[in-house]
Amino acid sequence: MLRNNPLVQKLVNSSVWKSIFRHGWPDNPLDRSLIMTQNVFLHLHSVKVSKKSLKATYSFGLGLLTTFSFLELTLTGILLMFYYVPSVERAFVDIVELQTTVPFGQLLRNMHRWGAHLMVIAAVLHMVRVFFTGAYKKPREFNWIVGVILLLLTLGASFTGYLLPWDQLSFWAITVGTSIAGYAPVIGPPMQKILLGGAEVGQESLVRFYALHVMVIPTFLLLLISIHLWRVRKDGGMAASEISDENEAA
Ligand code: HEM
Repeated sequence: MLRNNPLVQKLVNSSVWKSIFRHGWPDNPLDRSLIMTQNVFLHLHSVKVSKKSLKATYSFGLGLLTTFSFLELTLTGILLMFYYVPSVERAFVDIVELQTTVPFGQLLRNMHRWGAHLMVIAAVLHMVRVFFTGAYKKPREFNWIVGVILLLLTLGASFTGYLLPWDQLSFWAITVGTSIAGYAPVIGPPMQKILLGGAEVGQESLVRFYALHVMVIPTFLLLLISIHLWRVRKDGGMAASEISDENEAA
């Protein structure tokens, strides 16, 4: 065994090892938990997890897939901002140029577009998984509500991004979408006007959708995803832990 090696033992007992890791060789429960709690990356995880929650078929990694697609969209979105100007004169031309003259421009745009589709699909499937495993029950009701807001923000990001290419498809899709929203009782008409910045889709709408798409919605997504993941940790890891504990006790 590696730990019986005199050289390894000397290293583990040295003050250099202790000053960096602050615990001994992880061959007892205390040192194992210290490894988790005192490491900047590992402390995000619980000290103990049930075997069931580690099974790929429990969560299908859908929450993580949604998180990674958000990170991918942030990265490709920032790169797209180097080329795109939210002006009715330039937006469409910028997108065409991005696809035809910018190196890897087509790839960049497609990664952002397909990433957006993936995030919506993954978030919906993740919600379905949480529902069917009953993981929305006590004590995770709060995280379910955070999840619902996350889903609405994800859909909002897709909707606002749709106008930005400023082609016929986006123009008419947003015209139809905002007209439907305008029929909502009481809040419909003012909401439609606030979104569009006028009576119809134009320059003001493009700037508003752009601001919502690149700043407002991603900021709230980042904040709420952080709270969501922190809550998973504080609620004692994934619900599978309790389900399997109950089964083991029975
Ligand atoms: C941007 C969207 C979302 C992201 C990035 C996200 C991310 C995550 C991650 C990484 C986990 C850890 C477990 C796993 O991978 O399944 C998780 C768990 C959870 N999520 Fe989400 N989620 C999102 C949307 C939602 C939605 C729409 C709901 C429900 C309405 C929801 C409710 C929950 C609940 C209740 C848990 C705890 C599950 C358990 O204990 O088994 N989340 N989420």
